[in-house]
Amino acid sequence: MRPRCKLLLLWVLWNPAAVAAIEPISTGIAVGMAAALTGLFASYRDIFYYFQESCRPDWISYNRTGLEQALQKKLFGQHVASRVILKAVTGYMNNPNPKKPLVLSLHGWTGTGKNFVSHLIAENLYTEGMHSRFVHLFTATAHFPHEKDLEMYKAQLQQWVKGNVSNCGRSMFIFDEMDKMQTGLIDSIKPYLDYYEQLDGVSYRKAIFILLSNTGGESIGKVALDFWNAGREREEIELHDLEKALSLSVFNNKKSGLWHTSLIDKNLVDYFVPFLPLEYKHVVQCGLNEMVTRGLKPDTNVVEQMAKDFIYYPKEERLFSVPGCKLIPNKLNFYLLDP
Ligand SMILES: *[C@@H]1O[C@H](CO)[C@@H](O)[C@H](O)[C@H]1NC(C)=O
Ligand SMILES: *[C@@H]1O[C@H](CO)[C@@H](O)[C@H](O)[C@H]1NC(C)=O
Repeated sequence: MRPRCKLLLLWVLWNPAAVAAIEPISTGIAVGMAAALTGLFASYRDIFYYFQESCRPDWISYNRTGLEQALQKKLFGQHVASRVILKAVTGYMNNPNPKKPLVLSLHGWTGTGKNFVSHLIAENLYTEGMHSRFVHLFTATAHFPHEKDLEMYKAQLQQWVKGNVSNCGRSMFIFDEMDKMQTGLIDSIKPYLDYYEQLDGVSYRKAIFILLSNTGGESIGKVALDFWNAGREREEIELHDLEKALSLSVFNNKKSGLWHTSLIDKNLVDYFVPFLPLEYKHVVQCGLNEMVTRGLKPDTNVVEQMAKDFIYYPKEERLFSVPGCKLIPNKLNFYLLDP
């Protein structure tokens, strides 16, 4: 509805001749209408912000119901992560005066939904979702590839975060592949994550930082396997069952990207969120969901065929999907083709 409304408004406001063209309304009424519309939008600036994404509540507002439903309907096999994320984001967004920015660290194997969850958060916070000018995604291998350039990357990253938060306090930064990030890079933005009211006149307290890494995936998987071996339901796994395994592997792993960083020393990460490895049934769910997303009739036969061809580990139990739900859109294409 918005684009059409936008067009009409632009036409009426900027083209007086167009006003006369509106039939059968008389010019007088039309001019009055245009004036009323102009009055409605008190100033040019307001009109501008109506059309152009801006750092205002019309473009940035948290939809709790939206996030909750998305987590329930679109994220599979992650009851622990779902709960923690919803609580963390809701608590933070409901607090009018947070003392520090929200820092979430998401852990688990590839394809378990870490990226996906950060997209869901963005979609339920920014009207433009991941396309918002206020959402920034950094990927270690793409943005910070060369070891020798560490010092430059540090300066650049500081500048980017500072510049963007100065523009809009409610900015979101996603750091993908934290485990591939050079030691110390994330340390460069540490002051921004801390409990400062302001730094050089900029407040970072409304910003959201999401760190994604594979670190801890193995120990999270081990907990899930232990539950399975003990004949217990996966849904019985609670956060505290995973926390110990997670903290040991995150804090002691040189490759975690958080290694020795003062993020951990100073407790700047608000939540460590564990993502469980996915099972066959979750791969099927992801596949069915992908078909629905594409407007196809969900076909269990096709999707099960695809899921059966995935590789599962450990070797004996064949319980967890190695690629998780990653690349399902591409893989599904193969099974959708007629033989
Ligand atoms: C919040 O999300 C729900 C579910 O997606 C949607 O129906 C509702 O319109 C959204 N609310 C706002 C204010 O955008
Ligand atoms: C904001 O971040 C982007 C990277 O996502 C960067 O290219 C841009 O220069 C930053 N803006 C400011 C004002 O620093």
